[in-house]
Amino acid sequence: MAKFRIRTAALQDAEAIYRVHKQSISRLCSGVYSPVQVDEWAELRTPQHYEELINDGRVLVAKGPGGVVGFAVFSTESGELEALYVHPEYVSHGIGSQLLAVVESQALNQGISAITLNATLNSAAFYERRGYSSLGPTTYRLPSGMELPCVRMRRTLA
Ligand SMILES: CC(C)(COP(=O)(O)OP(=O)(O)OC[C@H]1O[C@@H](n2cnc3c(N)ncnc32)[C@H](O)[C@@H]1OP(=O)(O)O)[C@@H](O)C(=O)NCCC(=O)NCCS
Repeated sequence: MAKFRIRTAALQDAEAIYRVHKQSISRLCSGVYSPVQVDEWAELRTPQHYEELINDGRVLVAKGPGGVVGFAVFSTESGELEALYVHPEYVSHGIGSQLLAVVESQALNQGISAITLNATLNSAAFYERRGYSSLGPTTYRLPSGMELPCVRMRRTLA
């Protein structure tokens, strides 16, 4: 895999982030969620949604030579990792781990003592191997009211 680098997202990344998010949900989360759940979830966002997050300085992107291959959204106000997604063609190259490491390092620098998140069922083991503990089952509610089972997780930093 060619080199990639991680940096704060710029507004012009919004469209690519949107595409990575859709692809990642559709192809990587379909093993544990139903086609109906995946379809509704993948269609949830628009590029404008990411522009707002980028304007708030909350988005990191991993970029390879061909463009955005992964992204993370983190809230320094709540300490919540709101999203971590890698393009299906670029998984298992260390991109998710590096995005998570940069989030954790930035959080520590800002005096944040713990990171929390709702892990999809397919990603809970990934977080466990990186020091996150389960706080128990939770759900992510889609606008229609459909609920996606998730795992609430937390890691104390430092
Ligand atoms: C969960 C997710 C973000 C992980 O991203 P990723 O880029 O595949 O993660 P990594 O490559 O860092 O690590 C995954 C595995 O790849 C392997 N790996 C890591 N670096 C590697 C490298 N340089 N070379 C080869 N393999 C590597 C490891 O075996 C690792 O497994 P481990 O957890 O046992 O250590 C990604 O699978 C994804 O986007 N999933 C769908 C969306 C989702 O559910 N997101 C979470 C929402 S809460």
